[in-house]
Amino acid sequence: MPAPITTAVFPVAGRGTRFLPATKASPKEMLPVVDKPLIQYAVEEAIRAGATRLVFVTGSSKRAIEDHFDTDAGLEAALAAAGKDELLKIVRDIVPSSVTCIYIRQGEPLGLGHAVLCARAVVGKEPFFVHLADDLIDADEPVLLQMRRQYEAHGCGVLGVETIPVEHSASYGIVAVETTGEGHHLIRQIVEKPKPENAPSNLAVVGRYLLPPEIFDRLEHTGRGAGGEIQLTDAIADLLESHPVAAYPFQGIRYDCGSKLGYLKATVELGLQHPSLGPEFASYLRELVGRGASSS
Ligand code: UTP
Repeated sequence: MPAPITTAVFPVAGRGTRFLPATKASPKEMLPVVDKPLIQYAVEEAIRAGATRLVFVTGSSKRAIEDHFDTDAGLEAALAAAGKDELLKIVRDIVPSSVTCIYIRQGEPLGLGHAVLCARAVVGKEPFFVHLADDLIDADEPVLLQMRRQYEAHGCGVLGVETIPVEHSASYGIVAVETTGEGHHLIRQIVEKPKPENAPSNLAVVGRYLLPPEIFDRLEHTGRGAGGEIQLTDAIADLLESHPVAAYPFQGIRYDCGSKLGYLKATVELGLQHPSLGPEFASYLRELVGRGASSS
């Protein structure tokens, strides 16, 4: 049985420029989808996949993330005194007490690869998850758990992938795979943000990674790549020479909440699914669409 995975790394030090001005003074990862910030969806997914150590790689203007996962004794006392027991439970259950949160600072946002490297001392010598909170994935089974099962079956690194229109390749890491008889997709090539004419396929890596600790040695030697940033993709390309890594087309619907349109779609879809808000929100949307139809 491969080594168990207990650590999840959340790189949250990016500038979030696509979401300015909302992200000027507060983190993109704290944007709420219905009633929970993106980073809380991320943490819940990682915990359901077995993570008990959550490592946040933070930067400037990210204090709100630490505050969100910290106990707020004053707020809890106020809710208890007001008899708001349901809200008290929601606040207390943000992170179970069995889970440890660790914060590491990335001095400068030099790229996703550099952010992951910042977590090296805390992760140590075990395989670990990397989760990008702005890729929100609505799935019956948490995607990191789906990926952990792949790792347990095959003992190799796993990247979450999805098929994209090839004209979008310059926004993603793109992989070329070789598929075994059992449907296991071994990655043969990975390229960061290729132009469509250079893309080796239309299989894009999204914000879910299960990586062996050997990635850190590769990251130590990874220079600046696409966009002048230290890219995780380039270190994975290097890793492929000695360690098998599989591409896993996960079950679930991904919303790119780092983009305004993706974020709006997630808000509508998850709003419709919300147990108490859903029905009223659905009838509002029907009315809105009806108004559009009658005015056109
Ligand atoms: P993005 O590519 O979405 O970059 O990073 P960004 O800076 O957050 O957003 P835009 O493109 O300017 O709008 C992917 C993930 O990697 C993290 C981000 O926080 C995000 O979760 N990241 C990126 C870091 O932690 N450090 C970095 O240096 C770069």
